[in-house]
Amino acid sequence: MAEKARIAILISGRGSNMGALIYAAKSDDCPYEIMLVASNDPDAAGLKLAKAENIPTFAEPHKGRSREEHDQIMHEAVVDAGADYIVLAGYMRILSDSFVRKWAERMLNIHPSLLPKYKGLNTYQRAIDAGDSHSGCSVHLVTPELDDGPVLAQTEVAILPDDTADSLAERILIAEHQLYPDSLSRYVTREADPEWILAQVRQHALELDETHERASFGSPGWRVGSEKTGKYFAYFTHRLHGEAGIGLLVKTTGLDEQSALLEADPELYYLPKFYGKSGWIAVRLDTGRTDWDHIADWLAKSWRMVAPKKLVKLQQIADEF
Ligand code: GRF
Repeated sequence: MAEKARIAILISGRGSNMGALIYAAKSDDCPYEIMLVASNDPDAAGLKLAKAENIPTFAEPHKGRSREEHDQIMHEAVVDAGADYIVLAGYMRILSDSFVRKWAERMLNIHPSLLPKYKGLNTYQRAIDAGDSHSGCSVHLVTPELDDGPVLAQTEVAILPDDTADSLAERILIAEHQLYPDSLSRYVTREADPEWILAQVRQHALELDETHERASFGSPGWRVGSEKTGKYFAYFTHRLHGEAGIGLLVKTTGLDEQSALLEADPELYYLPKFYGKSGWIAVRLDTGRTDWDHIADWLAKSWRMVAPKKLVKLQQIADEF
């Protein structure tokens, strides 16, 4: 199995979500491991639980420190523990922008509502008062705005006619404990998910001038030029023609470049079945170490190979500008 993602959990209280994350991590095939549980409250009940499970803990009260100072101390503790992700689980602190920026796309939170509904506190009563048939919980990436980052996953929980805020909170918590370990696992392994990989390629390909997507024999492909006369500059392949992995087909200058690449980096490049002779080469996208800038460069180079001369010239002028 691939290396596990290393996470730190930040808590302020009882830590029941933390518990769910810890127990899920005990299964051999869980893709993350917990390096640290840290709190702004040395008396947080969750810290005792983490200690009993032999997970390193850290506590630093926020009292008497500026927000930036306290965030910096937590940041250093997380980095020292060797964690690559921060998972907020009932961490009752507003985070400074600089802290959030440092952990952009590597910090998750769970919130007890179906975001974007009911950001902030008192979510259960607000859902009941609004007469909603359902509330639930959301796991989202943390951005500077409170409870506003992209939602990764949600679970709906039905509201019963006689629900109080407490009874609803209790049921939503059960859903949280299922959702958090599951969506964290999916998030830390996203780079192996074909859909995620395809989305990255698509974004880079469509960033180039006058491009559009069109499937070719069932594979997504990208063309430059008009819908009518456009030419393909890239194809995405996933288990096509009996090939094992995921790859991106791009156009080289010809057979010389093709064989040079195959020789220079046989782990990264391979000859795609049926296309090889026309100068196409496949770049592997499932090594787990994809350099997306390199892929963007390949797409741009391939685009230049097939784009109408006029467009390439315009692009060059724009680049020099
Ligand atoms: C949960 O309700 C969670 O949705 C919110 O804070 C609470 C944490 O509870 N972010 P616990 O400490 O995980 O038990």
